[in-house]
Amino acid sequence: MAARTLRIGLIPGDGIGREVIPAGRRILEALPASLNLKFSFVDLDAGWDTFKRTGTALPEKTVETLKKECDGALFGAVSSPTTKVAGYSSPIVALRKRLDLYANVRPVKTTAGAGGSPIDLVIVRENTEDLYVKEERTTDTPNGKVAEAVKRISERASSRIATMAGEIALRRQKIRDVAAASGAAVTRSKPMVTITHKSNVLSQTDGLFREASRQALAAQKFANVEVEEQIVDSMVYKLFRQPQYYDVIVAPNLYGDILSDGAAALVGSLGLVPSANVGDSFAIGEPCHGSAPDIEGKGIANPIATLRSVALMLEFLGEEPAAAKIYAAVDANLDEGKFLSPDLGGKATTQEVLEDVLKRL
Ligand code: NAI
Ligand code: MG
Repeated sequence: MAARTLRIGLIPGDGIGREVIPAGRRILEALPASLNLKFSFVDLDAGWDTFKRTGTALPEKTVETLKKECDGALFGAVSSPTTKVAGYSSPIVALRKRLDLYANVRPVKTTAGAGGSPIDLVIVRENTEDLYVKEERTTDTPNGKVAEAVKRISERASSRIATMAGEIALRRQKIRDVAAASGAAVTRSKPMVTITHKSNVLSQTDGLFREASRQALAAQKFANVEVEEQIVDSMVYKLFRQPQYYDVIVAPNLYGDILSDGAAALVGSLGLVPSANVGDSFAIGEPCHGSAPDIEGKGIANPIATLRSVALMLEFLGEEPAAAKIYAAVDANLDEGKFLSPDLGGKATTQEVLEDVLKRL
């Protein structure tokens, strides 16, 4: 069978983005030939340095190349000015809009070696509506100012995010099956999706999210997926008390934002947490951390958030076996604990962590 060739856009951005994205490229190049996958790469600009050089943080060429040539992309991090700068706006936010990447996917995982029972969950956050439509207004009244914001929930957006959550749940099961077949211990045998909302108070908006999600997940293809729901505040409690319970959590934009940052705190370092921005036909892998100016240029940035983001991107490109290889190599590196970067209490450089992971592929 001819190898599948995937073209990947590399957008390192600023700061440690330039140190970790090359590690992402290396791991793709190092995947075993037996996977029958080839990669070609195109380097693309975005970010604060790009803005200073060219007057735009997201050159049109970057967007067009992604749209016309690429199957997926990796995005490092960008520095944002601390005060408002005319003409500057966040390139990743713009990319999400331009490429209709309507889901933000954030897995949170610990390894067996971390002690206790491992956490392995993913938050699937709707990324286009809810309170983030930013339709706010302030009115002067005899009793002082009153500010209001629109919370917009649509059946279409709720349904497609829930469908994606269901598909992710099925795919995670496939990856667990691959791991189990190679003798690894797996955390669960059946996929589960938890729908998060506050429909006891917001019966129309969150009520619609709940209804549309339920309906989407009732599709025949999800017959094997257990579907449950939970009110967001009690969910926070349980997420912190018993994170092992969860598999896939689907949430409207605001709850998803809060839950995903909170959940990232369950695992030690920002340098470990990946994400993906996903639409129907494109996925951008992106480590959750920023450009980390405090460690920039020292060669000690943890590459693991990026390596896991690479695997996540591969999942959305339908390459589960390749993703499973990367996840397993990263977990083995963390479990052995010989080559850990300083954010995890070790002494290893970015390069040394990468080499150790590559060796385990
Ligand atoms: P940050 O994530 O860059 O850093 C927070 C802390 O975590 C720092 O002490 C940093 O050294 C450490 N850290 C982050 N990633 C690490 C890694 N891979 N390995 C080891 N240590 C790591 O957040 P901060 O400092 O608030 O923001 C710095 C810049 O990044 C700002 O300009 C901010 O706007 C931008 N930023 C960009 C994001 C993005 O591009 N998605 C996300 C968050 C911040
Ligand atoms: Mg956030």
